Amino acid sequence: MPRVSQLFFKTATVFFLVGIILGLQMGISGNHAAFPAHAHLNLLGWVSSAIFGIYYALNPVRARGRLPMIQFAVFTAGVVIMIPALYFLSLGNTNMEPLVGIGSFIVLAGVLLFTAVVFSTEA
Ligand code: HEM
Ligand code: HEM
Repeated sequence: MPRVSQLFFKTATVFFLVGIILGLQMGISGNHAAFPAHAHLNLLGWVSSAIFGIYYALNPVRARGRLPMIQFAVFTAGVVIMIPALYFLSLGNTNMEPLVGIGSFIVLAGVLLFTAVVFSTEA
């Protein structure tokens, strides 16, 4: 499996663990306030990272070069910035809103880079 796939699966697994622990914490405490952070940690952090990892494993030619690694770094940084900020925002800390926005735009940049990889003309 290409290194970028290994990296995506490593971060995906960590996001998954934290995501379900947060889900369990909500379920056990009965306080579901942090559900947007839980939902997006699982869907961006676990599901999307795993899909990126699978894509690169199925298309090893596209996993070559620097762009996939840059895409990994940008997307993952976006999730790491967005989700903790979203967690505190959903608990009522409204001054986290700009950071959620910044993180979201970094995630968007990661997805744009992925689009560039998918549409690249390399075989
Ligand atoms: C042990 C694992 C998990 C537990 C205990 C758990 C628990 C919860 C809880 C308590 C909520 C709040 C429900 C509400 O107030 O409406 C929630 C919402 C949500 N969870 Fe999980 N979850 C788990 C795994 C996952 C996974 C793996 C995903 C996605 C891949 C996921 C996606 C979501 C989504 C999208 C919502 C928001 C649903 C809505 O809009 O109401 N969860 N989860
Ligand atoms: C940077 C990327 C993203 C941003 C900025 C974003 C933003 C949002 C916003 C503003 C809401 C409404 C929240 C509310 O009404 O309280 C929402 C809800 C939701 N989004 Fe996203 N989203 C992103 C990525 C995704 C992805 C990739 C998925 C699925 C793979 C997803 C699935 C959902 C679901 C299931 C809900 C309803 C549950 C919830 O409110 O947390 N989102 N998102």
